[in-house]
Amino acid sequence: MTSETMNEQETSLVVQEIVKRIGSKRADLIPVLQEVTNQFGFISQPVIKELSALMSLPTKEINSVATFYRMLSTQPRGRHVVQFCESAPCHVVGGREVFSSLKQALALEPGQTSPDNKWTLLTTSCLGVCGVGPVILIDTDTYGNVTPEQVKEILSRYE
Ligand code: FES
Repeated sequence: MTSETMNEQETSLVVQEIVKRIGSKRADLIPVLQEVTNQFGFISQPVIKELSALMSLPTKEINSVATFYRMLSTQPRGRHVVQFCESAPCHVVGGREVFSSLKQALALEPGQTSPDNKWTLLTTSCLGVCGVGPVILIDTDTYGNVTPEQVKEILSRYE
């Protein structure tokens, strides 16, 4: 079942199960929000309200955590999330050209989702694999030593 096919009650049950499994303390908030993102693709306002009640935390606090971390999102994301490393070590080995090619191929700017909901483009700081920069992360797949010419072919693997 996807988040789009879940009604309010089913969503609520899933959220309750996540909090029960991970915990309801303030320190559990980030892992809980991460799991909500995994299950629903993003953290909706009704889910934030539900978490507020279950975890006894103000919605404002949950909202600010949910919007602070790039791995979390309060907006629906595309089926594939493309993250481009914009840190200096990747930048100096040709990252700028790869990023241009990526933006052009997707017709997106960072933070945008394609109208068909297929792609979301994000930038990220160092992914810890600087030795093989420039680096692109698509969902959980890491691509290193990417050249501008390879971008289209890499994206085509997700057709
Ligand atoms: S700087 Fe890009 S992976 Fe480290």
